[in-house]
Amino acid sequence: LNPHDVVRALLRERADRAPRERGEAYAPANIALCKYWGKRDAGLNLPITSSLSVSLGDLGARTRIEPLDGPDDRFVLNGREAEPNGSAARRVGAFLDRFRGADGPRYFVESESRIPVGAGLASSASGFAALVKALDRLYGWDLPPESLSILARLGSGSACRSVYDGFVVWEAGERADGMDSLARRMDEEWPDLRIGLHIVSSAPKPVGSREGMNRTVETSLLYRVWPERVAADLPRLRDAIRDRDFEALGATAESNALTMHATMMDARPPILYWKPETVGAMERIRALRAAGVAAYYTIDAGPNVKILYEESSENAIREAFPELQIAIPFAQ
Ligand code: PMV
Repeated sequence: LNPHDVVRALLRERADRAPRERGEAYAPANIALCKYWGKRDAGLNLPITSSLSVSLGDLGARTRIEPLDGPDDRFVLNGREAEPNGSAARRVGAFLDRFRGADGPRYFVESESRIPVGAGLASSASGFAALVKALDRLYGWDLPPESLSILARLGSGSACRSVYDGFVVWEAGERADGMDSLARRMDEEWPDLRIGLHIVSSAPKPVGSREGMNRTVETSLLYRVWPERVAADLPRLRDAIRDRDFEALGATAESNALTMHATMMDARPPILYWKPETVGAMERIRALRAAGVAAYYTIDAGPNVKILYEESSENAIREAFPELQIAIPFAQ
C-alpha cells in the first residue's frame, strides 16, 4: 500500500464529495514524553515503537483551505507567501497530492502557527493535523478521529498525535498498511501541568528528523535497546499520569529523551542536536531540582529545551528562564 491507497481506503465513497467554499481547523503542537524515534515504513511513517505525548493547548496551528482556480497551489504561512518551489510548499503540495492525485484541484492554504517553524518544536505535527482537519471540513467527510490520525501520520509521524488535546498515545501497530498505527486520547487531565518552551535557536535543524531517524535505525548499535526502553517507560508514564505523580512523569520523560539522544549519538556519522545553551539549560534545571523545585526537561530533534513543571513552581521557573514561552495543556 502507498499513501494514496491509504487515503482511498479511508475515504471510500466520500472521495467523490464536492468541496464547500472553505474548511478551517485548529490543531495543537505536541511534545512527546516517550519519544517516537525510528520508522518501520518510511513511506507510511509507521513507527518501530509506540509513543506518548501531551498536546500544547493553544500553541498550535490554525489552517484554512480553499479550492483555487489556476495551475498551482498557494501556501501562506504566518502571513507570508511561501516560495512555490521551496521546501515548505513542496511538502504541503506532496501531502495534498495524496488526496487529489497529481492532477486534481489546486488549493489556497493559509496557516497561522504560534510556534517556531522547523526548530524541533513539532510545528509540522500541528501543521499536518490542522490541514487534515481543514480538508475534512472542506469536503464534509466527517471522518472519525482515528481516521484523521492515520491521515495526519502520512504528513509527519508525530502529527497523528496532534489530532487530539491532552495526553495522547500513538500505538505503533503491526499491520503493513498501518491501519492499526494511530493515536488515541487518554481520559486523564492534569490542569496544573505546564510546559515551558526554552528556545535556544529557531534556525532550521542541520539534520531533519526523517534523516536522523533513518541513520539511527541503520547504524546505531544503541538503538537496539530503544524498543526495550520504550516498553519500560510507556507503562511508567501511564501510571504517573493516572496517579498524578509529577516526579515519576518528569523523571521518566527526561530519561526517555536522553536515551533517544544517546541512540543518535551512536549513529554513524553521529547526530548531536544540542548547543552549549541546551546543556546550560539542562544544568539550570538540575540546579532547580537540587534547590527543591520539581522541574524536568525533554528535548526533541533540535537544540530547544521543553521544561515540565507544575503551576505551583511557576515563579521559580520564570525567574530561572525569563524568556520562557509557556503552554497550558489543560486550560480550564
Ligand atoms: O514526526 P516527525 O517526523 O517530525 O518526528 C518527531 C520526532 C521527535 O519529535 C524527536 C519525537 C516525537 O515523538 O515527537
